[in-house]
Amino acid sequence: MKIGIDKIGFYTPHLYVDMNELAVARDVEPEKFTIGIGQDEMAIAPITQDPVTLAANAALNILDEEDVSKIDFVMFGTETGIDHSKSAGVYVHHLLGLNPSARTIELKQACYGATAAIQLAKGHIALNPESKVLVLASDIARYGLQTPGEVTQGAGAVALIISADPKIMVLENEQAYVTKDIMDFWRPTYSDIAFVDGKFSNDQYLAFFNTVWAQYKEKANKNIEDFAAICYHLPYTKMGLKALRTILEEGEERTQERLQENFQLSTKYSRKVGNIYTASLYLGLLSLLEMNENLQAGERIGLFSYGSGAVGEFFSGVLQPNYRDYLIVEKHQELFANRKRVTVAEYEEIFTESLPTDGSTVEFETVNDPAAICLTGITEHMRQYLNKSEHSE
Ligand code: HMG
Repeated sequence: MKIGIDKIGFYTPHLYVDMNELAVARDVEPEKFTIGIGQDEMAIAPITQDPVTLAANAALNILDEEDVSKIDFVMFGTETGIDHSKSAGVYVHHLLGLNPSARTIELKQACYGATAAIQLAKGHIALNPESKVLVLASDIARYGLQTPGEVTQGAGAVALIISADPKIMVLENEQAYVTKDIMDFWRPTYSDIAFVDGKFSNDQYLAFFNTVWAQYKEKANKNIEDFAAICYHLPYTKMGLKALRTILEEGEERTQERLQENFQLSTKYSRKVGNIYTASLYLGLLSLLEMNENLQAGERIGLFSYGSGAVGEFFSGVLQPNYRDYLIVEKHQELFANRKRVTVAEYEEIFTESLPTDGSTVEFETVNDPAAICLTGITEHMRQYLNKSEHSE
């Protein structure tokens, strides 16, 4: 049975800060951020957007009535969950009006959570070929103001529908994965910013990539020539480039060129958004599919997922006939075109605004947030959400 990605949608908040301006404010040469790190803009989440609303907004654009009735499993991959107990997916399930006869859970292993969800979804579809699974990957990356990690923050979500006979990409069965207990990046439950050993995390990312790449080639009996493109988890775009460079020489010259060109296309969206943890790999895939009009059905794309702590996985997918007809390129272009640039001072103000933790009631004005689904406040420790599209009908 062919199982894979039937639909893919993306959402990022309407605010961003320019990396050149951030560099000037931090007294750093702009090229360090734009070339050394490889980021141009960084998405900023206003107080009216949280991981739930980002995911719900990403899914809203791709769901039709048939999806709503057939989705019987919702898996929400995140490392910025809003509750130690209740799954963020349950809120999204309600906001999207999904079928009550569904399972909904949240999964966590740093940036790897959504990849785990996709692999579990494959098993579910294999046993229930008629069903569809909604996989949500949503995060807000925060390292803190004036930290080395600041330039690698971001906010956004990707929603994927996994089904049998998918319209976009069939996921192949060969996968290679590895788990190792390391402290490269972590966020204790009492902290809203991540702790990170930056250089160590970079080294581990590369080591995990090289391990799973070698395992995959052996298991799948494939080599670099079999790939039209390889997409990477992109904590910042230079990281993926460093990983690609470690294997490029395995390929012929034209393969090297193809992989480098496609890598650049896979980083276009990430350069404007920043790290969105669980969704970063899938934002890279989306960017490649939407920015490259020449990829052909039958071509194979490699995917490297890395979640600090750490788990790494390499797997692959094959593009399906007419896959471009099922992408929503215009909607995503519109999303980027309608964003608003904020100054560094405004970004800092938004960054330091936080939700109450003592149960006090707050209400937020959502007229300035163009998102269909917003956080409107907190009442008695309960987050309140609004789906404006329901109220405008
Ligand atoms: P840093 O110390 O500020 O930067 O931290 P640097 O000094 O290493 O410089 C970065 C690059 O800019 C270097 O290039 C410099 O040469 C270059 P490289 O040697 O690496 O190729 N550079 C310049 N280039 C052009 N013109 C200039 C210039 N100046 C310098 N004028 C670091 C960088 C990434 C460590 C920091 O931002 C950080 O700690 N980020 C967070 C951690 C991270 O993203 N790690 C990535 C791997 S771990 C991962 O992917 C998992 C994660 O997503 C979390 C999860 O799984 O949940 C993070």
